[in-house]
Amino acid sequence: MIGIFDSGFGGLTILDAIRRRLPQYDYIYLGDNARAPYGSRSFDVVYDFTRQAVERLLQMGCRLVILGCNTASAKALRTIQMRDLPVWGEHLRVLGVIRPTVEAIGNLTATRHVGLLATEGTIRSESYDIEIAKLYPDIQTTSIACPLWVPLVESGDLDSTATHMLVKRRIDELIAADPAIDTIILGCTHYPLLLPVVEQHAPQSVNIIAQGSYVAASLDDYLQRHPDIAEACSKGGTTRYLTTENADEFAQKASLFIGGNITAEKIVL
Ligand code: DGL
Repeated sequence: MIGIFDSGFGGLTILDAIRRRLPQYDYIYLGDNARAPYGSRSFDVVYDFTRQAVERLLQMGCRLVILGCNTASAKALRTIQMRDLPVWGEHLRVLGVIRPTVEAIGNLTATRHVGLLATEGTIRSESYDIEIAKLYPDIQTTSIACPLWVPLVESGDLDSTATHMLVKRRIDELIAADPAIDTIILGCTHYPLLLPVVEQHAPQSVNIIAQGSYVAASLDDYLQRHPDIAEACSKGGTTRYLTTENADEFAQKASLFIGGNITAEKIVL
């Protein structure tokens, strides 16, 4: 199976994009809803929580786990890859969502001025800035944290006057900070649900990047380059949903993110 982890619901947007591109695989989605949001938590806590979740997914038989959460990718991925994977098993893989997103922007920005909207944790980690500087040193990045957007999405309030006002405020702030921005990265897995509102308030010439399809394309490419891992992942086209919160509530809210009815199981980490 391929494991997909998120602090809560946001990673379902990543699961959805991956499953559209690679429907043949079996997936286990794990949302740590009981301890979400991760966005304003410290480095140590995000690492501890993420490590526990990844270890569980690996114990359940996943050969490959995607951190479908920007905050976990920013604060835990590197330590898990460097410190934990060598102990858990060299054949196991954990990948994040930041690198595939950054790889994609090189071809999308003409002005080489990029805006990043993300959680406080992701921005403070400077993970996007570091990856962008590595791959495209000519790109200038301006970042704005949007702490209210995650609770807004979780509450299902995707099109109210208040939502439009909050989204417009952040977009205006970003464009005022750097008017040359022609590409905005939605660097949080919840934000794609606000895409229609973001598009409405951003200047028409600006590309808005929802990362799901880029993460999915990158995983597809990765599996083609690593046939041993692709072969080790089972192919039955199923998805199992796990949450650390109430399973029925999870199943109900998940439909906001992926549509359709699902059933979920509660686990304790
Ligand atoms: N999934 C998280 C991310 O992509 C947002 C939610 C949270 O703060 O836990 O950063």
